[in-house]
Amino acid sequence: MSEEKNQKLESRPPVVVVLGHVDHGKSSILSAIKDFKITENESGGITQHIGAYQIEHQGKKITFIDTPGHEAFSAMRLRGAQVADIAILVVAAEDGVKNQTKEAISHIKKAQIPMIVAINKIDKIEANLEKVKGELSSHDVLVESMGGKIPCVKTSATTGKGITDLLDLILLVAEMEELKQDKSQPAQGVVIESYLDPSRGPIATLIPRDGVLRKGDVFGTHSCCGKVKIIEDFQGASIDTAPSSAPAVVLGLEDVPGVGEKFKVFPDMDTAQDNIEGKIESTPRVFEIEPGKKVLNLILKADVLGSLEAIKEVLRELPQDKVILRILLGEVGEISESDVKIAVGAKAIITGFRVKISPSAEKLAQRDGIKIKVFDIIYELAQAVRQVLEKRLGSETVKESKGKVRILEIFRTEKNSQIIGGKILEGEIKRGSAVEIYRAEDKIGKGKITGLQKNKKSVETLGKGSECGMLYSGNIQVEEEDVLEAYIEERRKVEL
Ligand code: GTP
Ligand code: MG
Repeated sequence: MSEEKNQKLESRPPVVVVLGHVDHGKSSILSAIKDFKITENESGGITQHIGAYQIEHQGKKITFIDTPGHEAFSAMRLRGAQVADIAILVVAAEDGVKNQTKEAISHIKKAQIPMIVAINKIDKIEANLEKVKGELSSHDVLVESMGGKIPCVKTSATTGKGITDLLDLILLVAEMEELKQDKSQPAQGVVIESYLDPSRGPIATLIPRDGVLRKGDVFGTHSCCGKVKIIEDFQGASIDTAPSSAPAVVLGLEDVPGVGEKFKVFPDMDTAQDNIEGKIESTPRVFEIEPGKKVLNLILKADVLGSLEAIKEVLRELPQDKVILRILLGEVGEISESDVKIAVGAKAIITGFRVKISPSAEKLAQRDGIKIKVFDIIYELAQAVRQVLEKRLGSETVKESKGKVRILEIFRTEKNSQIIGGKILEGEIKRGSAVEIYRAEDKIGKGKITGLQKNKKSVETLGKGSECGMLYSGNIQVEEEDVLEAYIEERRKVEL
């Protein structure tokens, strides 16, 4: 039985994801590969960004997932979807291991897929390979030349150096992984991108992990289903079947599935319907908002679901102990008038990611004082939201004690002022200092030291140990043995 099954198994191309720190060259490597392997002529058909592409190297195919940065990759993983077979960890040779490099390492380890390290930007004079390898080792990524097992390649996305070596390595690792498919089986796999096309309806980019997806198949995820009407390859050419590992743009779903959802082919619509459990709630946890707690309402519009998911994932990681970030609306599409109306009602801010603002929305926003910002880098969007959150927190007043003086004698008492003598216990006392009055440890009021004397001469400041005469003013009368604490107040920006 199992032998029979084995015979049906054929190898399938690897699906590769590229991860790494901001600006280390992930996109550049992906486009270097694309430029190098897909000729101008062939790629003429790519108009829509579909989230993946496939190349051929040494007669073998390799699929690259091209948007979801590691945030989307982790969103997929959270949903239990295994999409990539191999991860490329890009580390810039002159910058080394950074925060997101570390995050990527941990994602890859959790996904339990093999890793290839690409030390990129080797064309730069500041490149320091040994340093990068050392840093990787200290994060448990031991490359081959450091006595480890993780393959490593030096690349320059700019000059194209090492790109062929990288592709060779991918094929080698894929071969060791023995990635298999059973072409006789109905297709199943993962949604890697999806959006609602105004004229064509819900569109999803799928990558089958096993089996073959055919026109006419009934298929679905746990959130929606439909019948495959049209399949296009990553270059927009119409095809009848999508084999395992090949990115396929599919029309025919009744709704837009979430990125990272698993799809399957079903025998009929009824069975497909039975599989639907409703959409996984992808907005941040619904908070029980404590009274008095600050909230920032946000309306988020993005170009495609892949980015939307990635952004939500990143925003979810912002600290929310002090201000709660509530994503009122997270949708794909341009920023419209109705978004602005919701923002007005909810006192929300609007952020967009690679989307346009409709002219009427812009006008309305200006009139009603609604802030709209559009970004094309996720990290910058998240930083901007963080800043707004911090602004929402405002600043807090911090009291800093400068010195204490004990009152030894009261020389004269008038209505709102007294002439007193005392000794400075700690710190220093300045003329003009604001003071808090303590009587037997209890704070009983506030006042000011409007005059300061030493040996009957006016002075500005006196330090610990000094005896002094003071002109005190305040609406509380001080007594012998009271302690006056001089302090300053500072407004400080509160951090999240
Ligand atoms: P994010 O998508 O923002 O996380 O960045 P990324 O990792 O995709 O980096 P991207 O490919 O956008 O590259 C960032 C910058 O580095 C760009 O200005 C690139 O031109 C440059 N760059 C990328 N690869 C190389 C390289 O091999 N050599 C040199 N000199 N510059 C490079
Ligand atoms: Mg990029």
